[in-house]
Formats: sequence, structure tokens, C-alpha cells
Amino acid sequence: MSDRPLALVVGANRGIGLGVVKAFLARGWDIVATARKPEAAADLRTLAASQPGRVEIQMLDMSDPAGVDAYAASLSGRTFGAVLVNAGVAGPAHRSANAATPEEIGALMFVNAIAPIRLGRLLLKNIESGTGVLGYTSSVMGSVALNAGGHELYRASKAALNSLSRGLFAEMRGRNLTLLTLHPGWVRTDMGGSGAPVRVDESARGLVEAILKSAGSRRHAFLDYQGKEIAW
Ligand SMILES: NC(=O)c1ccc[n+]([C@@H]2O[C@H](COP(=O)([O-])OP(=O)(O)OC[C@H]3O[C@@H](n4cnc5c(N)ncnc54)[C@H](OP(=O)(O)O)[C@@H]3O)[C@@H](O)[C@H]2O)c1
Repeated sequence: MSDRPLALVVGANRGIGLGVVKAFLARGWDIVATARKPEAAADLRTLAASQPGRVEIQMLDMSDPAGVDAYAASLSGRTFGAVLVNAGVAGPAHRSANAATPEEIGALMFVNAIAPIRLGRLLLKNIESGTGVLGYTSSVMGSVALNAGGHELYRASKAALNSLSRGLFAEMRGRNLTLLTLHPGWVRTDMGGSGAPVRVDESARGLVEAILKSAGSRRHAFLDYQGKEIAW
């Protein structure tokens, strides 16, 4: 076992999650990285091969409730300095409550809001007391205060994540943990699109910096990748 601190990154095979794995490695952390399809996670596998013994790849599909519970149980006895639940989806292309079906909303809400809280709650005992940080990749789009309209279903899923994360923090009192609800910026990924202004490495470096700076604060904050507070 290495002396290096260990982080868990959920949804780490591409986009911001993969960037966060690289940023943690650069800061001297080892990583447990999850992917829905580890065998197809080519970039993550290449990264792991280039850093022998430092990146462990595991399978987790956040749309599968039993899989989420079983995954948390499989980590029994392991302790993380930081856990970032990053996996997320944009939701149906029509983006409208007036076009949405219960199935579409169920899938969006489960992956973006319910599964992250379910997993985080099950993993509280696996996070280092005192300096440990549980983070969620949310979005400024989840801010009710800053809601300027549009993307209403995705916004609602991230607002739900924010609300659920506050409720989880209320449950966490006495555990000496920090909870961060994070906005990565508008980032050039498959989800963010090629016109997004922020590069993955900039966003990821900032998210990891925010996590490391907040360690030990034992607060619940909504921060962007530059460490700035966002209105709830
Ligand atoms: N890009 C932006 O501008 C932006 C802005 C604000 C917030 N965010 C949030 O940042 C996070 C990462 O976004 P991104 O831009 O990196 O998106 P992305 O490139 O589309 O990557 C999404 C990641 O989530 C994973 N994922 C999706 N559904 C999953 C499921 N059911 N189980 C497990 N993993 C699943 C994907 O795995 P697969 O490869 O298997 O699909 C992938 O690793 C998301 O939570 C997103 O909402 C992004």
C-alpha cells in the first residue's frame, strides 16, 4: 500500500472526470476511478498504464440502484481523502418539461441527483474524518438564485442534487467532513460542446485545488472551479 492520499472519482473515463484524475495524480494522489465500461475506457486505461500502481479502475453504473449499493459495499474497509461524484447526463434533447416523459425524468433525476446522494451517504464511513472531502460535480445551472431560464430539466436535476447535498450535510454533523457542491465552469467536453470557454485541464485543476483548499473546513459550500462561492 502506498503512503499517498487516495481519491475516488466516479465517472472518470472522459471529460471532466478524466481531467480530475490527471489533476489528482499531478498533486501526488492515488486514484480509484470508476467507469460504466472499464474495458472501453481507453484513455483512462492508457493513463493507468502510464502510472503503474496509482490508478485502479472499477466498474460503476450510476443508473443501477443495486449496482450503486453493491459498489459502496465493495469498498468496505477502504478510506479516501476525497470522493468526487462527477458522473452526470444532460437529459433528453428536447429539454422541456412540456415534452418530458416520466421515464426520461426518472433516468435524469436518478443519475444526476439520487444516485450521487445514495452513494455519498453509503460512503461517509469511507471518508477520512477531519480532512476528508465529499464533492459533487453539480453546475451553476442548479442555482435557483441564478436561474435565467432554459435547460429546465437539467437545471432541476442539479438543483435537486444541491438540495439533497445540503440535506446530506445536515446528517453529517459530528462526522467532521467537508461537503462541496462544485461548478466546473462551462467546459469543452462532450457535454459542454466545442464552443465552451474552459479547457478540461483548467477546470479539473481548479476543482482539485478547491477540494484540497477546503479540506478540514467541515462546511458545505457551493464553489466554482476558481474557488468562488456561488449563490444557492
Ligand atoms: N461540461 C460542462 O460544461 C459542465 C458544466 C457544468 C456541470 N457539468 C457536470 O460535470 C460532470 C461531468 O461532465 P462532462 O462535461 O465531463 O460530461 P461528459 O464528457 O459527457 O462525461 C460524463 C461522464 O459521466 C459518466 N456517466 C454518465 N452516465 C453515467 C452512468 N449512468 N453511470 C456512470 N457514469 C456515467 C460518463 O460515462 P460514459 O462515458 O460511460 O457515458 C462520463 O464519464 C457532469 O456531472 C456534468 O453535469 C459539466
